[in-house]
Amino acid sequence: MNRISQGRATLGGKLSAVLVAAGSSVGLGNIWRFPYVVGENGGGAFLAIYVCCVALLGLPIMLAEFTVGRASHRNAVGAFRALDRRWSFLGYNGVLTAFLILGFYFVVAGWTAEYLVHSLTGDLAHLSSADEYATVFDEFIRSPWRPILYTGLFVLATHAVIAMGVQQGIERSAKLLMPLLLGVLVVLAIHSLLMPGSGEGLRFLFRPDFSKVTPSTILVALGQAFFSLSIGLGTMVTYASYFKPDTNLRHTALHVTLLDTAVALLAGIVIFPAVFSVGIEPSSGPSLVFITLPSIFNGMPWSMVWSSVFFLLLVIAALTSTISLHEVVTVYLHEEWHLSRRRAAWTTTLATLLLGALASLSLGVLGGCTIFGENLFDSLDFLTANILLPVGGFFTCIFVGWKLDRRILRAQLTNDEALRFRIYGVLSLLLRYFCPILLLLVFLDNLGVF
Ligand code: TRP
Repeated sequence: MNRISQGRATLGGKLSAVLVAAGSSVGLGNIWRFPYVVGENGGGAFLAIYVCCVALLGLPIMLAEFTVGRASHRNAVGAFRALDRRWSFLGYNGVLTAFLILGFYFVVAGWTAEYLVHSLTGDLAHLSSADEYATVFDEFIRSPWRPILYTGLFVLATHAVIAMGVQQGIERSAKLLMPLLLGVLVVLAIHSLLMPGSGEGLRFLFRPDFSKVTPSTILVALGQAFFSLSIGLGTMVTYASYFKPDTNLRHTALHVTLLDTAVALLAGIVIFPAVFSVGIEPSSGPSLVFITLPSIFNGMPWSMVWSSVFFLLLVIAALTSTISLHEVVTVYLHEEWHLSRRRAAWTTTLATLLLGALASLSLGVLGGCTIFGENLFDSLDFLTANILLPVGGFFTCIFVGWKLDRRILRAQLTNDEALRFRIYGVLSLLLRYFCPILLLLVFLDNLGVF
């Protein structure tokens, strides 16, 4: 261990690295966003493109972030600075993006907590049509205090884990929550497969119809891959800074990517057969989970149990992701501003709580305050996912592909030549040319150039 890393936390065994990183990746992006994006973009063909994006773009960039993190053992800003002073802007971009994502992610996470509570108390069970669910959902997200209350609860839950530290908090929670999440998801998927008419949903998800593919489909798939894998803002840099010297970065990245994709697929398997069996449009958008699923569950025996289980799943997935975003900001404040970890965590918590409350209010009473015609919630979503993440990913490729000393990259990927790495050349090509060019296309598309 070098001088810099002295006194810094490290994760336990091999499994910890995978579970902690997967805890960050697997989130609302997989279970809430993935199904509705697939639904809006025509199903199977989108899925095929998405999987290619994950393999060709997600995997190399995750490895690049792991390399930067473990080579420097520092927070996102310190990591880039330690490797090349001029590149610390990339770390700042990451910390800012993490903070802004937290601003709206906490709000959606709060909704999942509220729906969990309503499922448990049986409040959702008396509604009968999808329309009624839509009205209830709409009223809820516009309320000036209820979503804020739940957002606050979620922020505090995240804070509690962060305050326990890297090993006791982050590592322990991931080890407990990730297997629980997988178990619950598998049970729900089996249940969904056994429903009458599930074949139609599966055909929609798995049978590619390439006539539905447009250039923007590819770009949407790319954006989804990015968001889902938690790459582009230094989350993986931060987590890799806690990895042990003998953690195999390639295996970790591969396993995290596979797990993340498996969870997205399972979420699709849970949701599409259900959607088709009650005749709801798969393209109904972000409300898919909050409006259509409770109404689907309601037609089933033990509806309370199923909907509680499902929203518990969403809460768990969201929590392990908010933890990772919070940690990026907290450890930055701790190491760069020299605040105690406790203070750093509280500063992050209070600041995100304020931003989250404003984002939540912007869907209701503050709806009139707009930034370029959008309310704060939508602006945060747009700015982070469509601008800051692609920018971060692009520059990460340029930095690791072109600027970083080759020996550092090699040493990290092979653990100082203890492991063999046969496809080093391929990775280098992907990082230097393929990924940056594709990301540039995403970026230009999001700016409306095409
Ligand atoms: N990947 C998480 C999800 O799918 C969200 C997330 C956590 C994230 N950390 C991130 C997204 C970093 C982008 C960058 O819900």
